[in-house]
Amino acid sequence: MGAPAPGTQLCALSEIREPGARGFLFGEGKERFDMFVVRHGDSVTAYVNECPHAFTPLETWPDKFLTMAEDEIICSTHGAIFNIGDGLCTSGPCTGKSLIAIPVIIDNGMITISQ
Ligand code: FES
Repeated sequence: MGAPAPGTQLCALSEIREPGARGFLFGEGKERFDMFVVRHGDSVTAYVNECPHAFTPLETWPDKFLTMAEDEIICSTHGAIFNIGDGLCTSGPCTGKSLIAIPVIIDNGMITISQ
């Protein structure tokens, strides 16, 4: 399964702390699709929840995708650090690789999958 279809609403922007992040899981088994959204101010970015190092989900605890300072994304497995804005890994075992971005927009206050 790929990303949810364009137009799929994930949640209201106000349901994610600022700064903060939230995971979303669709389907099961082979159909499973795991993603997360990071809020930064009034905008958001979204990524497939799969670290480019060992291809595991990034978080250990629900919705804990950010560093202590909450200004970067962190993989809890081996500590890789990623930019919130573009998903580029800037530190750790997958430096130079990137998270897979998922296009999202905010439509009437709802975080929504876009084209
Ligand atoms: S799996 Fe993410 S840093 Fe190793």
